[in-house]
Amino acid sequence: MKIAISGATGLIGSTFKEFFLRNGHQVSVISRHRGFLKKTSDIFWDLNKNYIDTKALEGHDVIIHLAGANISAQNWSAAYKKEIRDSRIKSTRLLVQTIQCMSNRPKVFLCASAFGYYGHQEPEAVVDEKSPAGSGFLADVCREWENASADLVLYGVRLVHMRFGIVLSKKGGALAKMLPFFYWGLGGRLASGRQKMSWIAIDEIPRMVDFIIGHEEICGPVNMVSPKPVTNAEFTKTLGRVIDRPTIFPVPAAMIKLFFGQMGQELLLEGAHVKPSVFLNTGYNFQYPDLTTALKHIL
Ligand SMILES: NC(=O)c1ccc[n+]([C@@H]2O[C@H](COP(=O)([O-])OP(=O)(O)OC[C@H]3O[C@@H](n4cnc5c(N)ncnc54)[C@H](OP(=O)(O)O)[C@@H]3O)[C@@H](O)[C@H]2O)c1
Repeated sequence: MKIAISGATGLIGSTFKEFFLRNGHQVSVISRHRGFLKKTSDIFWDLNKNYIDTKALEGHDVIIHLAGANISAQNWSAAYKKEIRDSRIKSTRLLVQTIQCMSNRPKVFLCASAFGYYGHQEPEAVVDEKSPAGSGFLADVCREWENASADLVLYGVRLVHMRFGIVLSKKGGALAKMLPFFYWGLGGRLASGRQKMSWIAIDEIPRMVDFIIGHEEICGPVNMVSPKPVTNAEFTKTLGRVIDRPTIFPVPAAMIKLFFGQMGQELLLEGAHVKPSVFLNTGYNFQYPDLTTALKHIL
């Protein structure tokens, strides 16, 4: 298969790229940086100019869209919130407009989204793909981001919105950021620790995407999370146990709000128990279903 991936230089995208190349597929990187384009089939885009190399994009069987400004790279000023939003919605619209004009369209368009779609939920509440969007900045961005590609179904393209949970990897993302503190023995639950963390091991994700591509009946939103989410307190204890370090220093909510503002509130103090109903109902076999197995594999 010919697969084009935007954000292929990022944490999730580089794992996809490696996986698909290993399995004999042809992968084209879509990037804003010409320096990252190593092969002639790679694709340049300039989102500020609403430009993409249309000819180069034509003829791919699958397009995977992951690109977007990193949501935890810096605190959420008004300008950075605009960048988080625009980088996702404008890039999605550009891809959709380009696909609409193609004579040879991809069979599947997989677009990233996030479990932030559901907003903050009480720890006892369980949401799945049929649940409505929640409230908050991330929920609003996810809703708009998913809407930006909705028209594609009118053009015969199978559309999938991958609502990623917290991706666990030691190369980047949330786990990589907290690991040094845990290794120094400074790890601890965040505030009450009751907030639910819906997570997924990085090496599970390419298998899930491969499963989606192979199952034509799967379309629409798909929760990319493990079937066993945990509270932040459980996550903290499990991580401490796996790396054999104490986790006795809880971090007060006030401190998180002071240092990280709205970003700290939505990313660290809030959460949701998200159920991967689509995968459970279609017989997907999770390789890393529980946190201990996943963390032992990753670390
Ligand atoms: N990691 C997680 O835990 C997680 C959880 C939920 C959802 N997601 C979503 O999944 C997607 C991929 O996540 P990731 O962790 O792999 O992200 P990442 O490592 O931050 O990589 C994102 C990629 O997007 C491109 N990019 C960065 N800033 C951009 C901007 N301002 N405008 C356009 N493109 C930009 C970059 O590619 P180039 O520099 O090559 O253009 C980069 O490689 C993201 O959209 C993210 O929101 C991730």
